[in-house]
Amino acid sequence: MTSPKTVFIETYGCQMNEYDSELAKSILKNNAFQLVDKETQADVVMLNTCSVRDNANRKVFNRIHEIIHSSERKDVKIGILGCMATNFRQQLLDNPKLKIDFIAGPDSYKQLPTLIHDLYQTGKKSFDVTLSEMETYSDIEPSRNDGVNAWLAIMRGCNNFCTFCVVPYTRGRERSREPQNIIEEVNRLVDAGYKQVTLLGQNVNSYRYEDDRFVDLMEKVSDVAGIERIRFTSPHPKDFPLPLLQLMAERKNICKQIHLPLQAGNDRVLDKMNRTYNQAEFLEVADQVYKTIPGVVMTTDIIVGFPTETEAEYLDTEHVIKAVKFDSAFIFKYSERPLTRAAKQFPDDVSEEVKTDRIMRLIEIQKDISLERHESYIGSVESVLIDQIGTRRDSEAVRGRTDGGIITSFPFVDGLALGQTVNLAIEGASPNLLRGRVVS
Ligand code: SAH
Ligand code: SF4
Ligand code: F3S
Repeated sequence: MTSPKTVFIETYGCQMNEYDSELAKSILKNNAFQLVDKETQADVVMLNTCSVRDNANRKVFNRIHEIIHSSERKDVKIGILGCMATNFRQQLLDNPKLKIDFIAGPDSYKQLPTLIHDLYQTGKKSFDVTLSEMETYSDIEPSRNDGVNAWLAIMRGCNNFCTFCVVPYTRGRERSREPQNIIEEVNRLVDAGYKQVTLLGQNVNSYRYEDDRFVDLMEKVSDVAGIERIRFTSPHPKDFPLPLLQLMAERKNICKQIHLPLQAGNDRVLDKMNRTYNQAEFLEVADQVYKTIPGVVMTTDIIVGFPTETEAEYLDTEHVIKAVKFDSAFIFKYSERPLTRAAKQFPDDVSEEVKTDRIMRLIEIQKDISLERHESYIGSVESVLIDQIGTRRDSEAVRGRTDGGIITSFPFVDGLALGQTVNLAIEGASPNLLRGRVVS
């Protein structure tokens, strides 16, 4: 076999996966592979997968089928990266005829060149899904797309073991990068022209490196000259000490946006989920966030239909979202994941109909709350960082986000450019966005 030259990576799932694809691209480029924009032209196609919900295996198999049929390469090789790697390793062991040629888990991307070369040398399928206690890729500069925002992982893995969540099994133990190494990367981002950096981690505010906690790191990042906006995701409600909220309030370049994943509003369900807070404690954190950071925008994640959740317990979730009035909420039906404690111990006993009923009701309630929140901006002027010029439907439309992270849409006027911060007079609102017009 000739040696492979061109590679293509397709990414599913969260921002961490986006970032990881940038790492993988960088590693491949440094090893003489060429990245191509079209899957049909690649010798090797990789899917960077997510396994947080649904049994997505079938989707991935369909996609592989499509890729093989559309490829201009007779012998296109297929690789699976990301959170489904472990899963697919078992499938591949069970059925070696599957059209998957190599597999690399989230901590194995440095092995990619070797895995691919071995595959071409020996013709044998190869995989590496070992999880590491150490790997943070702090020595790899991601191959980022030019843009306004840069992702930057400050920690990886998760030790929380929420009973529904597969992440601790797919991504392994929590580990943080050295602060100095992170700051140097932020400096390089400023030099390269990025306006915003989003710090990433599965549990970003549990960051800890020797004596440095998340608040200490945020202070150091905020001190970097030239970085206009700092965001972070995804945090856990248990790690929002007051000094962190105070720092967020004080620093102009730390965006006033907090994602506070509720998951459920009922104490018994929260305990069964192993979330480590109850309803009263969650409401207290939310209250402290509102009190400490004026103008803050809060969002959340919710799961409905966790095993044994009753109607009355579901209503507690309604109660909390009505009380907190999040700007928006990502709402999911419980989906049983292999390996998790919930899958082992709690039968998935809330019917699909009930899950659907609860999610629809919650979405309706949240829609009204989002609209109410957004309407309160009408008449105000918001600082907006432009991240898109021209949408599919309207080549003249401009998009950007407020400091709190709300999406805005407004007409193009001469002189606007990507990465520019403008003042926007807010004139209209919907549950999903704000509309406005640029004022000088
Ligand atoms: N570390 C992140 C989690 C990422 S998963 C965090 O703690 O916020 C993103 C969201 O997916 C979770 O907040 C949860 O609401 C949802 N989720 C995770 N596992 C799920 C499951 N088994 N079924 C349904 N939703 C799930
Ligand atoms: Fe998907 Fe979670 Fe893995 Fe991200 S960390 S890729 S959301 S399973
Ligand atoms: Fe960790 Fe978030 Fe799950 S904190 S255990 S990944 S919900």
